[in-house]
Amino acid sequence: MRSSLPDFPWDALAPYAEKARSHPDGIIDLSVGTPVDPTPDFIQAALRESSNSPSYPVTAGTPQLREAMRSWAISRLGATGDFDVLPLIGSKELVAWLPTILESTKVLIPEIAYPTYHVGALIAEAESITVSIDAQSWPNADLAWMNSPSNPTGRVHSIEEIESCIQWSRANNAVLISDECYLEFDHTAHATSVMSLTGGDNRNILAVHSLSKRSSMAGYRAAFLIGDSALIAKIRELRKHAGMMVALPVQKAMTVALADDLHVAEQRARYNARRDALIPALQGCGFRIEFSNAGLYIWCTRDEDAWTSVDWLATRGILATPGSFYGEKGKNHIRIAMTVSDTQIADALTRLKV
Ligand SMILES: Cc1ncc(COP(=O)(O)O)c(C=O)c1O
Repeated sequence: MRSSLPDFPWDALAPYAEKARSHPDGIIDLSVGTPVDPTPDFIQAALRESSNSPSYPVTAGTPQLREAMRSWAISRLGATGDFDVLPLIGSKELVAWLPTILESTKVLIPEIAYPTYHVGALIAEAESITVSIDAQSWPNADLAWMNSPSNPTGRVHSIEEIESCIQWSRANNAVLISDECYLEFDHTAHATSVMSLTGGDNRNILAVHSLSKRSSMAGYRAAFLIGDSALIAKIRELRKHAGMMVALPVQKAMTVALADDLHVAEQRARYNARRDALIPALQGCGFRIEFSNAGLYIWCTRDEDAWTSVDWLATRGILATPGSFYGEKGKNHIRIAMTVSDTQIADALTRLKV
């Protein structure tokens, strides 16, 4: 299995990072989507106040955290019917391990997607099949990933598209997992959770959420799963045996973060202002914007090889990600992440005008 894992794609970007760094005013790194805006003070305070933590944390989460995740799923996502919740050590670990935990043999993955979906299938030694958005065209499998808003495209699924994914799950008696880690950052299209469209029948349906971007807590490693109670019970049982529990101070920080929407609205406004500034600047340089309605990324193309676009931007000291990192279909696109300070965004605008 390990020998079949792909080379870490970011290594291929190193020469372009070197080129961007040699710009007289330094690099503006719009490649890795790692949040840079500070974790809100009240979340930091909750973590600090919980630093005396001599006992083991519980895999299922504290009663307070469980209640916070449940209430948020109902009030923010519109979850109905019977469902369970489970804290995670960031959502990447779930993406990488879910096919192994569920002993999946055939996994469907969006054709332009976050690369860890494929890695998870490889770790499980499962077959991974890339599919289009349209679930009516999906083959039979035992697990399917959907991701809305999408990394890297910023595309938002319509309600009909999500309903079609649910129908696929029911027709195939297969697990549908919706990666909704950018759901709070919608902009020109409204992002809907799968949990609001099940009509209360959550069998085989899971949604994964993360506080990494929502609350700028990527360094805490804090995410959670919502959905089918029987499936979550099975996943929780394995995680208990495997020591996959979230640190107690992080659980306390998650609890307060989930109870507050104001900091999320502020962060959403920050990303949306950056997007609104960058899009016309990129268009002015000949880039055509596709999707980019939500999330953290702008997906664009000059109808040339992605590496040519990456090189052109690196000459201006700006580092972007080639779309080929996310699948063959992305080979003529680049992904721009809005995860630098407003000052650096302003700087990028100036460089794009030259
Ligand atoms: C689509 C998607 N899912 C999951 C993750 C993992 O996020 P985290 O592990 O920080 O929750 C990322 C991170 O960039 C992502 O883009």
